[in-house]
Amino acid sequence: MIRYTLLVLIGLLVTACGEREVQKSLTMVTEATFPPYEFYRGSEIVGIDADIVREVARRNNLKPVIEDMSFDSVITAVQSGKADVAASGITVTEDRKKQIDFTRSYATAQQVIIVPKDSRICGVEGLQGIRLGVQHGTTGDLYVTEHIGQPERFSNGALAVAALAAGKLDAVVLDSAPAKEHVSGNPNLQILPEALTTEEYAMAISKNRPELLEMFNRTLEAMEADGTLARITETYMNASPEKETAGEHAGLWERICTAFYTNFVKDDRWSYLVNGFVVTIEISLAAVALGVMLGFLVAVIRSTHDLTGRFRVLNVLCHAYLTVIRGTPVVVQLLIIYFVIFGSVDVSKVLVAIVAFGVNSGAYVAEIIRSGIMSVDRGQMEAGRSLGLSYGCTMRSVILPQALKNVLPALGNEFIVLLKETSVCGYIALQDLTKGGDIIRSQTYDAFLPLLAVALIYLILVVCLSWLLKKFELRLKKNER
Ligand code: ARG
Repeated sequence: MIRYTLLVLIGLLVTACGEREVQKSLTMVTEATFPPYEFYRGSEIVGIDADIVREVARRNNLKPVIEDMSFDSVITAVQSGKADVAASGITVTEDRKKQIDFTRSYATAQQVIIVPKDSRICGVEGLQGIRLGVQHGTTGDLYVTEHIGQPERFSNGALAVAALAAGKLDAVVLDSAPAKEHVSGNPNLQILPEALTTEEYAMAISKNRPELLEMFNRTLEAMEADGTLARITETYMNASPEKETAGEHAGLWERICTAFYTNFVKDDRWSYLVNGFVVTIEISLAAVALGVMLGFLVAVIRSTHDLTGRFRVLNVLCHAYLTVIRGTPVVVQLLIIYFVIFGSVDVSKVLVAIVAFGVNSGAYVAEIIRSGIMSVDRGQMEAGRSLGLSYGCTMRSVILPQALKNVLPALGNEFIVLLKETSVCGYIALQDLTKGGDIIRSQTYDAFLPLLAVALIYLILVVCLSWLLKKFELRLKKNER
């Protein structure tokens, strides 16, 4: 019997491993507001880079996985082993070569200047002392910072262009191809003929993966030789995405309807909000649970130490936890947990976010609960003990219930803060509600409606949460009588 079971188990293991072999993936990271190289079509990331990597994967029997994150993280993601390749219209520079290896180059580009049609700026000389926008961490950013002065840095090029269109900037410096795409969507903008730099694009691979680099170079060379690269580039360079704009003389109502259609209906854009909403809820609920558990634990340890002098070592550890977590911003913690602590392990990002926000919230919950415990009269503990209850039992059934009731409003507050804080998840390429709105904004160049929708959804969530908490509070009050 045992022998058969073993045989079956081994058989299962072998099949499982075999399946893994076939399913081996190739993870590409990018910042997907960079048409025609990478952008969203529906919920899929497409574009020259995406198609090239998909083709490289296909030719090498790998399963392509494409992830969207902020541009200044794509190289870190490759370095830390979170991704196999960064393909994001990345310019080859000497500084970057020190961090990662570049594949052979597959495109050339320029940094160009975008200005409003009625602008007086007509060349590089006009850029001094104006409000100049760039995408953070790009070669455009580097050029401007070095040669012109401090620019205004946006998390992506589309947002910089939207700010320019809204009159918040005087010019934007951007890569030529996306500049052309963005300008074609904004009839009031133009690109100046004079370019600032000429650059080569290549894909980035970790210095520890020479065999992967070799595979890419070999495949890219073959794709160049058989015309695949040219065909992919051609497809995207000439197919500028059509824009839905109401005519200049359209009435207000018509304009609102068109904007609503473009932002939410077209290409199923509402799905970014719905999917993001689900992710936000998922992370928030699990993080609250983790935070409450951690918080309780820490609060009990700390107050027991205060009351009885026990748990000296644990108390020091808890103190350190509170100091570190409360002393650093949650975004930084999230990035550290993702890139450093889980750096070389392949874990789901949702899990990373739950851990980050749970651990963060735990520190605040701990202090809230501790203050609740401290607010319960000391005599209660003495009374419990003199009735013969143990310390633990008195804590559990006398002190904690009263403490919890006293701090319920403060705890509710903490949950509300947590829910909204998850909006920084986009930093690790998680598509939560805020990021969903960002993606829509980057596609429609409309700041108003996507932001309004996102704000409204958070507001509704918070109102519901407050209502629930209030009900809970009332219920506790009733029980008291
Ligand atoms: N070529 C520029 C650079 O390497 C900008 C690339 C931005 N890419 C993007 N997908 N947003 O710095």
